[in-house]
Amino acid sequence: MSKDLNHLDHFAGKHILITGGLGFIGSNLARPLVAAGAYVTLVDNLIPQYGGNLFNVDGIQDSVLINIADVRDSHSMAYLVQKQDYLFNLAGQTSHMDSMADPHADLEINCRAQLSILEACHKHNPNIKIVFASTRQIYGKPDYLPVDEAHPVRPVDVNGINKMAGERYHILYNNIYGIRACALRLTNTYGPRMRIKDARQTFLGVWIRRLVEGQTFEVWGGEQLRDFTYIDDAVSALLVAAARDDANGRVFNLGGFRYLSLKELADLVVKVNGAGEYAIRSFPADRKQIDIGDYYANFSSIKETLGWEPRVCEEEGLAATLEFYHQHLAKYV
Ligand SMILES: NC(=O)c1ccc[n+]([C@@H]2O[C@H](COP(=O)([O-])OP(=O)(O)OC[C@H]3O[C@@H](n4cnc5c(N)ncnc54)[C@H](O)[C@@H]3O)[C@@H](O)[C@H]2O)c1
Repeated sequence: MSKDLNHLDHFAGKHILITGGLGFIGSNLARPLVAAGAYVTLVDNLIPQYGGNLFNVDGIQDSVLINIADVRDSHSMAYLVQKQDYLFNLAGQTSHMDSMADPHADLEINCRAQLSILEACHKHNPNIKIVFASTRQIYGKPDYLPVDEAHPVRPVDVNGINKMAGERYHILYNNIYGIRACALRLTNTYGPRMRIKDARQTFLGVWIRRLVEGQTFEVWGGEQLRDFTYIDDAVSALLVAAARDDANGRVFNLGGFRYLSLKELADLVVKVNGAGEYAIRSFPADRKQIDIGDYYANFSSIKETLGWEPRVCEEEGLAATLEFYHQHLAKYV
């Protein structure tokens, strides 16, 4: 964990619900909350194509309540939101390609279930504070860089449209019903406990897998610019957004230490690993259609409002990530 996790005292003795809590970001968020003395409940459906993994809570499994439930089940959610002080709403279908292949599943999870969760809070726990994990994908192909929150929102895939709706429902319920909610538009987030089996969560996942297995990984294109947030920085942002009431009703971009082309990132990850090879391939046509091209975020809004900025550089973050998977590869493939 980075040393600068602000506001943890705030959560001592509080009741916290994390949807998607067995996934990459949810499980990493649960750890400092447990250490701070919060009562943490994790809701996850553990669908194999998604990022949920029981090993993600290794070491804290006896300090959290794990509820294997689906956020599409409005009856479960109506019960689960009760008596909670905070909801980190992270459950989601994250694959852009899967959202095109099965648009209705994406709609049900990323859009309809979000409305049900908010209705459950409205009816059963209007004093809860919610932080929603939104995504940079909703901007679509940027008109300008770095992208700030005033940039037009023009999603290029089904996932982006549904996440956009999910985000807007949260802000609507904040504005109309006073249910305190805010949204963070995450960019590529990486670190220990991410899905590496395939590229469903992030291309970097499958790169790391191949590297750790000693195989050549593929870089598509290579020229695209991207920014990357290390998981500890993403967790810090979620915590500060939950703790601070001046975040309510707001959407904030997260961003990275700097931006890199995919080829630069590939060179860096090989260097940090100490060995490895990659091959540049042209972008597959179906992916090209929904690719957003170059992207990196302007995160000055969250920096100015909440004081958040990324602290962990790519070298440090990649080293910690590689170390984790060299040790635990078998649990993630
Ligand atoms: N990782 C990133 O780079 C990134 C970028 C932008 C946005 N996000 C958002 O952050 C959130 C968390 O992402 P993550 O990277 O931890 O992915 P993840 O797949 O590891 O975590 C999501 C979790 O949600 C669970 N889940 C999915 N559908 C569910 C359902 N119907 N009911 C209950 N649980 C369900 C999955 O099993 C998984 O454990 C997602 O909403 C995602 O859209 C992530």
